[in-house]
Amino acid sequence: MLHSSVVEAAPEDRPRPKTSGPALMVIFGASGDLAQRKLLPALYNLVQKGLLPKDFTIVGYSRTSYSDEAFRKLARTSVEKYSDAEFSEDEWHRFAQGIFYVTGNYDDPAGFAQLKARIEELDNTRHTGRNRLFYLATPPSVYEPVATQLGLADLVHPATDECWTRLVVEKPFGHDLASARALNEHLLGIFHEDQIYRIDHYLGKETVQNILVFRFANGIFEPIWNRNYVDHVQITVSESIGVEGRGGYYDKSGALRDMVQNHMMQLVSLVGMEPPIAFDAKAVRDGKMNLLSSIRPLAPDEVGDYVVRAQYSPGELDGTSIPAYLDEEGVAVDSTTETFVAWKLEIDNWRWNGVPFYLRTGKVLPQKVSEIAIYFRRAPHLLFAAADDGEHLSRNVLVIRIQPDEGISLKISAKQPGPAVKLQPVNMAFHYGSSFGSTPPDAYQRLLLDVVLGDGTLFTRRDEVEIAWDRVTRVLQGWKLQEDQAKAQGATLRLPTYPAGTWGPAAAEQLLGGEGQKWREP
Ligand code: NDP
Ligand code: BG6
Repeated sequence: MLHSSVVEAAPEDRPRPKTSGPALMVIFGASGDLAQRKLLPALYNLVQKGLLPKDFTIVGYSRTSYSDEAFRKLARTSVEKYSDAEFSEDEWHRFAQGIFYVTGNYDDPAGFAQLKARIEELDNTRHTGRNRLFYLATPPSVYEPVATQLGLADLVHPATDECWTRLVVEKPFGHDLASARALNEHLLGIFHEDQIYRIDHYLGKETVQNILVFRFANGIFEPIWNRNYVDHVQITVSESIGVEGRGGYYDKSGALRDMVQNHMMQLVSLVGMEPPIAFDAKAVRDGKMNLLSSIRPLAPDEVGDYVVRAQYSPGELDGTSIPAYLDEEGVAVDSTTETFVAWKLEIDNWRWNGVPFYLRTGKVLPQKVSEIAIYFRRAPHLLFAAADDGEHLSRNVLVIRIQPDEGISLKISAKQPGPAVKLQPVNMAFHYGSSFGSTPPDAYQRLLLDVVLGDGTLFTRRDEVEIAWDRVTRVLQGWKLQEDQAKAQGATLRLPTYPAGTWGPAAAEQLLGGEGQKWREP
């Protein structure tokens, strides 16, 4: 077990700078997709906006051999292609002077000795303040070896030091409860919890952060945000893309692990949590944790009643033919991995008892949309029943649109102009773009800056990750039971299918049981 650089305590109340001070960031897996497409462009933007210091230092680390110069060239191509900031030759030149590269294996002490020597040299020449940020942008199989080597190489400052060390861990954080716990145990043998930033890029989206502002900075919504007024909640995270060459990864993961355990559970917790006592990391995470703990755990034999899974069959989307999931590269021919999941989730607490939260996510659905729809109860006495020609007219719906067309709208009933009293639903809407004159920045910019500033509010704490995995692992156990039961009857389990380009299987509709409940067409 590990070892001496572990920290006894981390001061929660350490003052945080408003703008970032000097720091050095090591990107493990620097040759990869995430580093090139998201991290380097986000860092360039942050430096260009003056949110990170001009002499911010980046060291790429991976097995592919590059010189500093060759890695800078690769990074330049990525920044030119993916950054939403205007590319400036002068800015780039300054930024590139701070980029370095070390070639090494993820479990090799010699590579880490070389990395350490490079870091110490840069601490002096680039005045990093000895502040270090290690970013695990590798496949999860090497998260533990990298953390081990960082500890053994004595590259982790105690959290009580003046200078800081922080570790960013990408998703997936484990593949079930046991593996997530084991990874937490391992990392916590080397880093203190406050040094670990488990990233969920949904929390970096402006409109996700806006959920808390909307709920708790406005006096009118919170009083009706409960079982007395809300009929049910729908959370949709649909994607129009398929597995896009990630078949190998996706087939071992599936929609439940890939989207629900992390992004969607975080959305549920923000929509459902009690008001935190402060807008700081501890209070917000405590609030989310309480909500997640209230999600009713499912017994394996109940899973079929609450969770629907399916795979896409061939179809068409925007005029393009889409092959079946089972024909995608990297996918096993007899795969039972779900590309669609819908879950009727119940929350056992005072606020939400009896209010179902319906979650659905899937690949190759008709549109890419992430939204939360709060369906309010019907007006108690339908004065205008005769004028109501539709099933939803008296139900107000508040939609928080996370992407695209970020904003919030409220559906209300209005009288159509004319002599007769005829009702029509109309929307009161706020659009992020037109109200603020810009589109929100990429989530990685916000999250990387928060790590450098030491603000963990938008990152998931150990207990949140584990409780979300607990609820999801129970569903996985239910699915395993279904497979075992099919096997015991000499059958092979085949998942229900939905044609690519449609909103999922019919069974998803049947999950919504209440009066007039049906999935919203975004
Ligand atoms: P990649 O597959 O591109 O891997 C990153 C780098 O890791 C590769 O360039 C390679 O570098 C090294 N690597 C690849 N396979 C292995 C292996 N089997 N063993 C050891 N090293 C390996 O991954 P991404 O960049 O797409 O993702 C990195 C992490 O971020 C993953 O955990 C992913 O789940 C997560 N993530 C990625 C997102 C994205 O948009 N790409 C979005 C959200 C999360 P080399 O061979 O040079 O060492
Ligand atoms: C990632 C999943 O976490 O989120 C991908 O691994 C998915 O499968 C992506 O496509 C969706 O993110 P966004 O920001 O495009 O909604």
